[in-house]
Amino acid sequence: MDQFHAMFAVGYLMLSCFAATCYGVTFSSLHKTLIVSASSPQGHVLKAGEDELTIKWEVNQTFPPGTDSTYKTVKLKLCYAPESQKDRPWRKTVDDLKKDKTCQHTIIARPYTPSNNSFIWTVDRDIPSAMFFVRAYVYDGQGVAVGYGQNTDRSKTADLFTVHAITGRHVTIDVASVCFSVFSVGSLVGFFYMERRKGKVSLVK
Ligand SMILES: *[C@@H]1O[C@H](CO)[C@@H](O)[C@H](O)[C@H]1NC(C)=O
Ligand SMILES: *[C@@H]1O[C@H](CO)[C@@H](O)[C@H](O)[C@H]1NC(C)=O
Repeated sequence: MDQFHAMFAVGYLMLSCFAATCYGVTFSSLHKTLIVSASSPQGHVLKAGEDELTIKWEVNQTFPPGTDSTYKTVKLKLCYAPESQKDRPWRKTVDDLKKDKTCQHTIIARPYTPSNNSFIWTVDRDIPSAMFFVRAYVYDGQGVAVGYGQNTDRSKTADLFTVHAITGRHVTIDVASVCFSVFSVGSLVGFFYMERRKGKVSLVK
């Protein structure tokens, strides 16, 4: 009985591994079934933490009806353009999606709907200075990627967005305000200490 349970557990693990985690889906095996666009009133140069990007997506109707019958969720991601990947192995594009480092920032995840999708995203404060494009992946019920779309062309050169990270100025202000509050707590403690001493001295008199 125990042996049977153990075998069953191993079998189950292997199956779920195959279905969800260990199954090496490659980017090149996915069809570009989504049409994705991204735009901003600021044009193509955005400030992290401030500027907004409007992203729209829908299924490409020229694919046969039912192409999207297994689509369950969609995830929008911000991805590094080739120019910002140069000499940076930690942003490298790998065909195996588990190892790919192109799209490290998830914008949102949503249940899949075929059309009329739009999302206004304020560029996160932690986005570094670089050139980006937006890609949407669709996943089936097991969480396996089954399609994609992106706002750029195949060579990832068209319609890119340049993000300027939060600058040194903000950091300086943050550091200054921390220093200032440490200073003010320090002077408050000092003030109380002096007052108490004064009090003691006058009591003794
Ligand atoms: C929709 O898919 C077809 C076939 O792959 C493609 O030729 C066409 O350019 C796509 N449309 C858009 C707007 O991407
Ligand atoms: C898309 O959304 C707009 C506004 O929310 C609505 O008027 C329109 O009917 C929708 N179209 C489809 C195809 O769902």
